[in-house]
Order: sequence, then structure tokens, then C-alpha cells
Amino acid sequence: MKGKDFLTLNDFSVEQIESIFELALELKANPDHYEDSLPQMTMAMIFEKPSLRTRVSFEAGMTQLGGHSIYLGPNDISLGKRESVPDIARTLDRMVDIIMARTFSHQSVETLAEFASIPVINGLSDLHHPCQAIADYLTILEKKGSFKNLKLAFVGDGNNVAHSLLEGGAKTGVSVTIVCPEGFEPNKEIFEKASEDGLKIGAKMQVTNDLKEGVSGADIIYTDVWASMGQEKEAEERKKIFAPYQVNEEVMKMADKEAIFMHCLPAHRGEEVTDEVVESWQSVVFDEAENRLHAQKALILKLMLGEIE
Ligand code: CP
Ligand code: NVA
Repeated sequence: MKGKDFLTLNDFSVEQIESIFELALELKANPDHYEDSLPQMTMAMIFEKPSLRTRVSFEAGMTQLGGHSIYLGPNDISLGKRESVPDIARTLDRMVDIIMARTFSHQSVETLAEFASIPVINGLSDLHHPCQAIADYLTILEKKGSFKNLKLAFVGDGNNVAHSLLEGGAKTGVSVTIVCPEGFEPNKEIFEKASEDGLKIGAKMQVTNDLKEGVSGADIIYTDVWASMGQEKEAEERKKIFAPYQVNEEVMKMADKEAIFMHCLPAHRGEEVTDEVVESWQSVVFDEAENRLHAQKALILKLMLGEIE
């Protein structure tokens, strides 16, 4: 039977996303109730790119649920080079119970999901970072008490994290504004779909190049690196283009008085965000990091125990 995959937030309904938050909070409160949930079960973790949070949260998460995980780094299987993606998917399918993959091309996670009957989780592709978004919205729920009437301003590149935050806004009802330099807007299709879905749940999606307009009154200020993994060659050029979009204390003052600061990490302090902001009382960056663990444990349980069909 085909398992359900988690490649983007759009793979799940509003209700399914809500049920993940609910289970994540329960797992966070009572982790010991779930330590024998996945006996003898194995997750294969494919990484084409580096990672701290994603690798450790999935690996620790599987251990805490009574299962096991195997790290397959760039030099272990050379996705698509030593062996084709469909062959890797069909081989893993015969040996393990779930696959998590961090890839360059989004097509690679789609192909893994197409050829493996077991669940496939996207641990970041060039286009999406859905696990980050579920942990982030869980953090917002904890910090703000509900998703009602919230505005999130994402300042920086219209990248994978921005895309998943847009899709997450459309699932939770949080309005999302992407504040970026001209030419670095989010993918048009992803933005339009999130805008359309957002309308149904009361969330307004916007894109602006005007920093002040974008962040003013926001309840959440979010930023990410200016050059993502794979864009290292553009880093110097991007530093010049993005410099006016740095999140500093002045930018935080334009937001709501109670605004929180979020970042998926790793942060390049002194570039997209200042030290002062990361270390300020408004910063919740390590709560987000911790919530990767709880949100993903909930996701794994839902996918592996078949509660999401
Ligand atoms: N935020 C995040 O995905 O971190 P890593 O790249 O360290 O996994
Ligand atoms: N946009 C960043 C996120 C890292 C977690 C990247 O893709 O490198």
C-alpha cells in the first residue's frame, strides 16, 4: 500500500496539520509515554547537504520513539550519481520503514516518494523546508497562544523556508508577508496557491520590496540566510543586494511591541541578523530548534502508524 509522504505542507489538510501540532505538544509533555512506539523500525536519512538540526532531531527522535536511524551522507550513496534515485528508493523500500531526504533538487524527493512505497519526508529541498515550517508554527502557537490575527513578516530571500512558511500560513491562518529585494521574490506558483488557500482560512499573503511597509506591525519577524546551501558562489554578490534588509533592532522596533524573532538557523550573525536581535528577549530561535524534535516525532508517528492516509 502506498504510504503518505510529507514533501510539502500541501500534502496535508488543515485538520491533519492541526493533529500534528496536538500530538507534538503531547509528545513534548509526555515523551516517556511514546518510547516503545516504533520497535525494530528504521529510518534511512539521506543527506546531499550539511545539517545540524535536521539530522540530530530525526536521529534523536527515532531513538526516543524506540526505533533506529541510519545516516547516509553525500559520500555514502551519492544520490543520482553512484546509483539512480529510483533504484535507491526501491532498495531502501525493501530494508527500512521510512525515508527522510535532504536534497538539492525537489524532484529528487518526489522521485524517492514515487518509487518507494514507504513514507518519504522532505528534510529540505531547494524549493521547500516543510519540517522547519511545522516546527515554526508549533513555536508560534506556543508563544502566541493561537494563530488568530497574526502577521508574520519573512525578511530576506524568497527561498525554500519562505515557501514553506507561506504554505504553513495557508494551513494555520497566519498572514505571511515576504519582504525581499527585487528579483528575489518567492516562486510565483507557490505564492499564488498559498494566497488562494490562505483566503479560505482568513490569511493574507503578500510580497513587498519595501522593508518598512512589510514589517510594520508584524507579530513575527523571521529571517534566513541570504545565500542558501548550493548558492555559495553568489554569497558575496548577495551580501550587497540584501544589506538593506538586515534584521536589526531598528527593524524590530517597526514590528509589534510583543513581536517575536524567528530564524531557522544556522544564522550568519552580522549579515541577515545582528547579534543583538538573536540574543534579545524577543528571540525564540532555540525554541524553534527544539520544536523540530517534537514536531517531527509527531510527523513520524502519524506517517508510520498510518493515522494520515
Ligand atoms: N534549520 C535547519 O534545517 O538546520 P540544519 O540545516 O542544521 O538541519
Ligand atoms: N535556506 C537555507 C535553510 C537552511 C536550514 C538553505 O537552504 O540553506
